[in-house]
Amino acid sequence: MRTIAVVNHKGGCAKTVTAINLSACMAESKKKVLLVDLDPQGHASLGFNVKPEELEKNMYHVLSESHWDTGMKDVIIGVDKYLDLAPSGIILSAVEQELAGQPGREDRLLNALAEMPNFYDYIIVDCPPSLGLLTFNALRASRELIVPVEASFFALHGLGKLSETIKLVEDRFDQKKHVHALATLYDRRTRIAGEVFGELRKYFGKNLFKTIIHINVRLKEATGFGQPICQYDRRSSGYRDYAALAKEVHSLSKTRAYGDRPEPTITTPLGPQTVKNGIKFSIKALGAKNVQVAGDFNNWNPNKGVLLDTEGQGVWSKVLPLEPGTYQYRFVVDGQWLEDPKNPNKTESPFGGWNSVIKYRQRKETRRGEKS
Ligand SMILES: Nc1ncnc2c1ncn2[C@@H]1O[C@H](COP(=O)(O)OP(=O)(O)OP(=O)(O)O)[C@@H](O)[C@H]1O
Ligand SMILES: [Mg+2]
Repeated sequence: MRTIAVVNHKGGCAKTVTAINLSACMAESKKKVLLVDLDPQGHASLGFNVKPEELEKNMYHVLSESHWDTGMKDVIIGVDKYLDLAPSGIILSAVEQELAGQPGREDRLLNALAEMPNFYDYIIVDCPPSLGLLTFNALRASRELIVPVEASFFALHGLGKLSETIKLVEDRFDQKKHVHALATLYDRRTRIAGEVFGELRKYFGKNLFKTIIHINVRLKEATGFGQPICQYDRRSSGYRDYAALAKEVHSLSKTRAYGDRPEPTITTPLGPQTVKNGIKFSIKALGAKNVQVAGDFNNWNPNKGVLLDTEGQGVWSKVLPLEPGTYQYRFVVDGQWLEDPKNPNKTESPFGGWNSVIKYRQRKETRRGEKS
């Protein structure tokens, strides 16, 4: 799975037209694609004739704290055989303020995507024209970035600020991004278009797509009709350009290792943790429906140790009150008995496989109320 954000804080440089038509052309060649509309304007949703105001839930509900039980699966809509859409809505603009100051606010999209089964070949994220929290979430969740640049006056203006933001995300999370620029709205009749393309080549070097997206009125019309160009007019130059871009993007997989399923950031430490009145058992089990723990503390009866998904990130945990002693246990994930992958202490089970082992020593209160 490759996650690609279409990003540029400059308005009107064809981010959305690119996100829509790249997704549709990828899907046309039987790649499973999810298009995530991360712009409160909802233009990518409208581009597939999906009307944000008619939907009950959208990306706001996925990212917002107050709807912690809503995941990607609750908002995704199938728009074509190989193409799904995670729609936006104007309310998405509230996320910025709602999550202000919250720890992990830049990781919301990353974690939401990581919770999904590994079903898609491509996830394409359409960003809003700003460098705020939504764009930050898109940058954080995507290994690859496509920067559409309008081939006109002032095209390069502002790219420095975007590069700075990308660098900030790379440094903070220690992950290099693959950035590719795309020349858009290219008018071959003007001299400036050729000059800007030359400048872009100097600035981005081999990371400028060879494909150029020319101005084509059919692209504008297609969006207005709520259709991607491959449905609206396959004979147009707009179709040829985006089909060529889809091919070029796809061919990058052959030259680089892009298999970048995003890793969720987990704030709960995994492995058994001694807490005040017992042991906190935690395990990461993305996509599981039922996770329990069974051991000699509950007569190996998993029904007495049901774990809850407390983090919404596929981490299941529960504190079990215990008497001091040494215990063997296993997790039961959707009926499958597993040793604790984060606990190196284990012993062979008489029934085959391994049981994890934990020694529980009650914490003692010292005179000053400190724990020992
Ligand atoms: N190749 C093209 N030929 C003709 N018109 C185009 C082309 N690409 C985009 N447009 C038109 O230019 C306008 C801006 O495009 P688009 O909405 O994709 O930009 P954007 O970067 O997503 O804008 P915003 O920053 O507001 O999100 C739209 O009206 C769109 O239909
Ligand atoms: Mg847009």
